[in-house]
Amino acid sequence: MKKFCVIGTPISHSLSPRVHNAWFRAKGIAAEYSTQEVSAKDLAGFMKRFRNEFAGANITIPHKQRVIKFLDFVSAEAKNIGAVNTIINKNGKLYGYNTDVSGVLKSLIKSIKIIRGKKVVVLGAGGAARATVYGLIKSGAKVSILNRTVAHAKNLAREFSAYSFGSLEDFDAANCNILINTTSVGMWPNTMDSPLPSLKKILKGLPARKKPIVMDIIYRPKLTKLLRDAKSAGCKIITGDLMFINQANESFNYFLQVAV
Ligand code: ATR
Repeated sequence: MKKFCVIGTPISHSLSPRVHNAWFRAKGIAAEYSTQEVSAKDLAGFMKRFRNEFAGANITIPHKQRVIKFLDFVSAEAKNIGAVNTIINKNGKLYGYNTDVSGVLKSLIKSIKIIRGKKVVVLGAGGAARATVYGLIKSGAKVSILNRTVAHAKNLAREFSAYSFGSLEDFDAANCNILINTTSVGMWPNTMDSPLPSLKKILKGLPARKKPIVMDIIYRPKLTKLLRDAKSAGCKIITGDLMFINQANESFNYFLQVAV
């Protein structure tokens, strides 16, 4: 039986095993997908084991960037992004891809037909932010990156030629068509936390046509504090489950290459 997993920490909340196991079952493939709780210091050791034991994996917080050095081949897109969320093991050689990019773009395109020219504020500067910023800039959006550690936002903005960067406190709702959270703030079990604690107040002052669309890539809970605040302020929201399913589906297509 081929083994697959999702590697990260904390990982117990992940929905990936449920989704991928159901898809394997539906295709009649004898494979097993598990969660693997791996800390930063254990990643090197785990990746050695992975090469012998596992056929494929998803990579999540906080390893999307640091996993790259353990791979033999990285797709051009994942290389440009600097983050990998999908690995397959072909005869002992590890191949890395990034399916977050199309996951984010597909989720946005359902609600926003044209991304080109839109002012998008991305919260966060980690691995998920890198995929989001890369995809949006490639699609012609005007991207601002806001992050707790401003130096990380600055580096990312420079690397991808984003429009601007700043701290989370710099959020200017009047200059934002789309707001996307890529930080882990608000993720279960900290469901009362928000990367922008005063969002509701900020948004209530805006006329309806100026209110941004708000998207969160966190999918547990489905309605994060950020999205609850945005919804009650009258914004259109995009929940993280859409992005989750879109990236999972593309990852699954890679897994099929090594599942039988
Ligand atoms: P991922 O690969 O999933 O993006 P990551 O690379 O660890 O995970 O990035 C996590 C992001 O969440 C970062 O932008 C981080 O901000 P810092 O660069 O300041 O570390 C952000 N983040 C995590 N915890 C946070 C918190 N309590 N408040 C604000 N931002 C936070």
